[in-house]
Amino acid sequence: MSKKRPAGASRPGFRIRPAERNDASDFARLIHLAAPDELTPATTAYLLGLPAQGYLTHSPCVCLTAELPDGTVAGALLAQPPAWMHEFAAADAEALTGRVGLIVAVAADPAFRRQGIGSALIRAAERRYRRAGFGLVMLYHEPALDGFYQELGFSSGPALMANLPHSLLLLGKEDHLLTGLKPLDPQVRLVDVPGAPVPVIGGLLPQTSIPQGARFDGLCLYR
Ligand SMILES: CC(C)(COP(=O)(O)OP(=O)(O)OC[C@H]1O[C@@H](n2cnc3c(N)ncnc32)[C@H](O)[C@@H]1OP(=O)(O)O)[C@@H](O)C(=O)NCCC(=O)NCCS
Repeated sequence: MSKKRPAGASRPGFRIRPAERNDASDFARLIHLAAPDELTPATTAYLLGLPAQGYLTHSPCVCLTAELPDGTVAGALLAQPPAWMHEFAAADAEALTGRVGLIVAVAADPAFRRQGIGSALIRAAERRYRRAGFGLVMLYHEPALDGFYQELGFSSGPALMANLPHSLLLLGKEDHLLTGLKPLDPQVRLVDVPGAPVPVIGGLLPQTSIPQGARFDGLCLYR
């Protein structure tokens, strides 16, 4: 039987809302579909108990669910600050908090796929990050989902570099996963720099735009 929705078939309504404490088992079950090792019952309870701050539903994270009219939780998304930002200069890490969000997992219940839930969850997370002043949303994904993320405006590759005030940071997973990213403000741009093996993200922080004519010498950018 084809899994594809027949042309013209109606989509069930759903609403995207912040995950609540009593969503814990649904939230963990759905996130497990996308990231099996991410949440234990204890971390789920901790996450969903975090307070909202501005547009971040569970600061510093974003935890969303898709709820059907009958109350069924049919989708979930978990986003948080990327771990790599803490591996670099403390000043950069502090400045990057509030500029980069990592979507760790997004999942739709298998019974409700191809009905717009996954896309709606990602768009809702992006909206929250944009309103909170973030410049970039990123994620790691299977190559098979390239089309799904391209439709949503992500650029993906095996690796990317980010131009930071004190370093050039290589972003990517050592396994087969692709790194996808989407700029959220016009300052942040993905640039093909001559000499650089992968595209470089500029403009995440002040004075990190990639100047016209920049080249990569194997270590840093120069003009
Ligand atoms: C990936 C996933 C979240 C997509 O959710 P969804 O609600 O089914 O997706 P949407 O209905 O919003 O899809 C929108 C479009 O994206 C594309 N798309 C969706 N799922 C796709 C897939 N598995 N492969 C390729 N393209 C896909 C299609 O073009 C689809 O439009 P169409 O149905 O009109 O053809 C869902 O398949 C899922 O939960 N997978 C398991 C967990 C996972 O792998 N998560 C991603 C890694 S974190």
